[in-house]
Amino acid sequence: MSKFIKKIIIKKPDDWHVHLRDNEVLRKVVKYTGKFYKRAVIMPNLDNPITNCSKGIAYRSRILKSMHLNYQFQPLMTCYLTNLTIPKELEIGFSNKIFIAAKFYPNYSTTNSKTGIKKISDLTSVLECMEKIGMPLLIHGEEMHKNIDIYDREAKFIEKTLDPLRKKFPKLKIVLEHITTKESVEYIKKSDFNYLSATITPHHLMLNRNDMFCGGMKPYLYCLPVLKKNTHQMALRKAISKGDKHFFLGSDTAPHLHKNKINLLSCAGIFNAPSSLLSYVKVFEEMNALKHLQSFCSENGPKFYNMPINQETITIVKKPFKIIEKINIGKDIIIPFLSGETLNWSLENKY
Ligand code: NCD
Ligand code: ZN
Repeated sequence: MSKFIKKIIIKKPDDWHVHLRDNEVLRKVVKYTGKFYKRAVIMPNLDNPITNCSKGIAYRSRILKSMHLNYQFQPLMTCYLTNLTIPKELEIGFSNKIFIAAKFYPNYSTTNSKTGIKKISDLTSVLECMEKIGMPLLIHGEEMHKNIDIYDREAKFIEKTLDPLRKKFPKLKIVLEHITTKESVEYIKKSDFNYLSATITPHHLMLNRNDMFCGGMKPYLYCLPVLKKNTHQMALRKAISKGDKHFFLGSDTAPHLHKNKINLLSCAGIFNAPSSLLSYVKVFEEMNALKHLQSFCSENGPKFYNMPINQETITIVKKPFKIIEKINIGKDIIIPFLSGETLNWSLENKY
């Protein structure tokens, strides 16, 4: 059926998980998110993380200054939790709309997480406060221990950290970010979506670990949580194709300089802002589920965050769209996801 669809009109989407970085990278990448999305949740894991209100305010204004094309774009800021975070800071940040949420990175789980949390019990007073004021907790859900296999970290996190946490704080609003496994899909589907939802990236929907390792190892597909087996990819695709309210768009666009991707230690992260929305369209089309595209891209996120659904619409048409090959940053470059490839959907009349 959907192969006959040539035009889709949906409420303007939001991206609920974005890394914009800072300085020249910020100035060069922000327009790609601004083109496709009205609002974006901005991750706080800068080299110098956003750990308090004044850093949040300053970073937000740097983002707005870098956005020339789309003055409607709204960055929604998040606070990076450390074992020094005090509840009062979050209360002030949330009630004054400086922060929309706070982010929990397990210690050494991903890019810039060396000041992440070692023991979740260090956050008890912070989580009590967040539960009381209704401030969402965004989680990088991987259990970090040298004896836990990297492919099992997400499932182990649910068992060892998330499930006990939810029993202790049943009214805490939680987003399990960038889920990658069938265990996460199953666990989340059982929950009340007002209290536990999840974002899903385009790359985890489109790819599995074979794509990364077969025919040569591709560092540009290295991200965290790492790409999983095909059966997990299928579970994610099925989850979104049913229009389930628990799941919404969070691209995890995460730019890194080429020299840091192609290095003895490659940085984790995929810069997908130029292609993310049109990649999701491709997946929904393949799943014959375009009728659920709008709920995933534009409705389920705002419902979880108790925010209005965008009123303006975008029109997506069946027309080839070539993804840019690279972005120049000083003497270096950033290569986007699907660099130079052609997708068969475009935004109408714009690019
Ligand atoms: C992200 C980054 O580079 O900041 N990397 C990634 O692989 N996803 C951090 C994160 O979300 O884990
Ligand atoms: Zn991320």
